[in-house]
Amino acid sequence: MALTIGVDVGGTKVLGGVVDEGGKVLATTRRATPAEDVAKTLDVIVDVVRELTEQHEVTGVGIGAAGWIDASRSTVLFAPNLAWRDEPLRGKVEAALGGLPVVVENDANVAAWAEFRFGAAEDADDSMVLFTVGTGIGGGIILGGQLVRGAHGIAAELGHVQAVPEGQLCGCGRRGCIEQYASGNALVRFAQTGAKNDPGDAGLLLSLAGGEANAITGPMVTEAAQSGCRVAIDAFHQCGTWLGVAIADMVQILDPQIIVVGGGVIDAGELLLGPTMSSYNEQIAQRGRLPIAEVRPAVLGNTAGIVGAADLARR
Ligand code: BGC
Ligand code: NA
Ligand code: ZN
Repeated sequence: MALTIGVDVGGTKVLGGVVDEGGKVLATTRRATPAEDVAKTLDVIVDVVRELTEQHEVTGVGIGAAGWIDASRSTVLFAPNLAWRDEPLRGKVEAALGGLPVVVENDANVAAWAEFRFGAAEDADDSMVLFTVGTGIGGGIILGGQLVRGAHGIAAELGHVQAVPEGQLCGCGRRGCIEQYASGNALVRFAQTGAKNDPGDAGLLLSLAGGEANAITGPMVTEAAQSGCRVAIDAFHQCGTWLGVAIADMVQILDPQIIVVGGGVIDAGELLLGPTMSSYNEQIAQRGRLPIAEVRPAVLGNTAGIVGAADLARR
């Protein structure tokens, strides 16, 4: 059975794995991402692949990267939360590996592909949409059983749809993107603002952060919310409410069979998904009268990226 490698390059870690044709992960390895340093990030990617090829013979490599990728699956055109600008990643990795074929795909597109083929939407006939909620908001669209890449390769950037006119400045350069209202970064901003405006309701959150609202991090928001901290719960509520709006919009545009919500922030479970589902149900036009997409949490966790990238490397 032919094996391929998938590499998921995120803002904090580079995760690589050897994957078989059935989507089974046979080996993994991980390194910290030297974010801000394009050359070192390349070295880390190459290093991860080399380590995996020492133990396994593979026929190709797929890389999932958090940014706009060109239609030839080669160049990271732009990455709102990483340092890549017109980065010819495929050529550089292929040159360093000496011959192994490489493809570069968007990180959320590969995760969507993995959940469609092997995960939460495995039973979907031929359509699904994935939202990933992490540092940013990512999206992936499958229609007719195919990944939708668009005319220029950059389709399904669902995080950069405008939610708030004249809103928060986004890493993409636009204002008011949903990424600024429903991502992990947004969660932290809501919690920090809440703790400043309402310190009395943010006791636990502030104590976790050493009394400093600006020192609040994502994991602290989750921990505090799990223990009942009002400001932390409200931060999840705000993110989930916006996410429900984005999901309802997607239903109006594409009418997919299934919508999957993934990404690191869904580890918080109902804290995020509860408000997401109420908002979705409230936002949907003609609710109760029309058939609509079922919303499910992702099931592949942080292996979705490597499984999807490895599978797309065969196609
Ligand atoms: C980027 C996407 C990426 C998403 C999740 C967004 O900011 O624009 O390309 O898929 O973050 O990492
Ligand atoms: Na995408
Ligand atoms: Zn944006």
